[in-house]
Amino acid sequence: MFQSWYATCPRGAEEVLAGELQGIGAKGIRPGRGGVRFTGEREVALRGCLALRTALRVLEPIGEFPAESSDQLYASARELPWEELIAPGQTIAVSASGRAPGLSHTRFVEQRTKDAIVDRLREVRGDRPDVELRSPDVLVVVHLGEGRGSVSLDLAGELLSNRGYRVRTVEAPLREALAAAVVLLSGWDGTTPFHDPLCGSGTVAIEAALIGLRRAPNLRRNLSCERWPRTKADRPLIARLREELSALEARSELPPILASDRDPEAVAATSANARAAGVPLRVFESDARAIAALSPPGHVVANVPYGERLSAGSRKQLKSFYHSLGDALGALRGHRLALLSASDDFESAFGLRPRSRTTLWNGPLRCALYRYGR
Ligand SMILES: C[S@@+](CC[C@H](N)C(=O)[O-])C[C@H]1O[C@@H](n2cnc3c(N)ncnc32)[C@H](O)[C@@H]1O
Repeated sequence: MFQSWYATCPRGAEEVLAGELQGIGAKGIRPGRGGVRFTGEREVALRGCLALRTALRVLEPIGEFPAESSDQLYASARELPWEELIAPGQTIAVSASGRAPGLSHTRFVEQRTKDAIVDRLREVRGDRPDVELRSPDVLVVVHLGEGRGSVSLDLAGELLSNRGYRVRTVEAPLREALAAAVVLLSGWDGTTPFHDPLCGSGTVAIEAALIGLRRAPNLRRNLSCERWPRTKADRPLIARLREELSALEARSELPPILASDRDPEAVAATSANARAAGVPLRVFESDARAIAALSPPGHVVANVPYGERLSAGSRKQLKSFYHSLGDALGALRGHRLALLSASDDFESAFGLRPRSRTTLWNGPLRCALYRYGR
């Protein structure tokens, strides 16, 4: 059945997600704030769960109504046919965002919606579902805005960006979906060498390798909709999609993908994560300011250290680091650079003139992706 869907993503990555959706055959693509609406058969949305790199969730809308008070939200949510959507014995969780008058606390919105579901099921069927926050069978997503509430089900049940390969982290890892957006925005197409010289736990380089291999990032993930009572037909469909997507994987060898950091802990974390992801990276310890040119020239993509609430002395130190990094990266001939930074000092201290600047949000942190070269 042709229907509407909504995929969420890190803010700023909407256009990249829209491009990905186009690539999997979605129609009616309308980027919004932190997500993209689209239409299509159920197959497109399920393919999206397995294949989209920049999506956080793929949501199936099940109801939209005026929600100008807590009682209105409760009454409208109770009208929805929960007995068709949640099988006896299944667990639920509710995740809310946005606000409406009198409904500014997301915890309260979650509680009222949960009460509506539980009361409806008790009335219609005489049972009550348990709440399971970590991996519920049915994750209900509520969004409030402009006096309206929308209720959706999360097809995957867990953030798509939790790919499962991050077995070790060092400080401030990027969300996988944001790292994928950075690589896609850098213009890397998987044919030239790639280097992240500030690799941390390796997320950028691992997402690059997954892109280069054309491997669907969530190919092996079990989706919660496979367990839902109304959509039993999803199971064989997803099995077929998995086969189709794995046949699309590149069989040829990747160009070199390098990941380095001066911190040995980061090097160990990146090696462990690359192993868990099953991707071939060249990981080594090195200072980014000693970077060597790639041969042939390729892409240098990184998320630079920024430091929040720095003292004047550390701020000066960071600026001088950006300056020497600019000298080192500026000396690489014929390369393309894409650097994500949350620091207002970065652009001028780095000293090169960016070809473009894109705002991306790392959770609550406003960042810019600066692109340099050709
Ligand atoms: C913001 S983190 C990168 C996080 C990474 N993108 C991830 O997703 O895990 C910045 C990294 O730069 C590294 N770093 C800082 N100064 C460096 C230098 N001079 N040379 C190489 N690495 C450096 C830090 O050790 C840290 O791992």
